[in-house]
Amino acid sequence: MEQDSGARGSAELDRVLSALPPGVFTEDGSPTLGAALLVVSACRARGLILDGDLLDAIAERVGVVHDVIRDITRFADALLASADSAAPTQVALCRGVTCTMHGAERLHPLLKSVMQRAGAAHEYKDVFCLSQCEYGPSIMVGKDIWVTRARKVVEDRREWRQGDSRPVPVSDTSAPDLD
Ligand code: FES
Repeated sequence: MEQDSGARGSAELDRVLSALPPGVFTEDGSPTLGAALLVVSACRARGLILDGDLLDAIAERVGVVHDVIRDITRFADALLASADSAAPTQVALCRGVTCTMHGAERLHPLLKSVMQRAGAAHEYKDVFCLSQCEYGPSIMVGKDIWVTRARKVVEDRREWRQGDSRPVPVSDTSAPDLD
């Protein structure tokens, strides 16, 4: 008997979840910080197409809305796409005070472990503020900063820094020396 698409999405997700390292979900099954990103990244690493049914299944399992999963997927894609380049892409993980308060110490090692297992050629470096404190934990991939507050990952394309309404001065530390 053929599975309906919703059941197929759930079955695919179950296979991904069974291969995740311990600690992504608590013993009672609740998602921990970064679970949505880790699940999405693991799906991508397995070459799965994140279509509506699988996205719906992930959103339900990690307790976030569909749009958030889409944002997180874009972030995971940016990380994995950068892994295809010849030279390792630099990834700066903010360990500043605010990002640390909001879970960076737990999120970043999990993120690194998923990306390394996916074969991503990244060089990781801890930095101490990407000037996105109110939205962090913040992560800089190449020249793009991504923020993860409240499990939502949104892309910061940084145009706002060039406008009059930018919330941080131009002389901020948004482009840290990664050498
Ligand atoms: S403390 Fe992380 S962006 Fe400022």
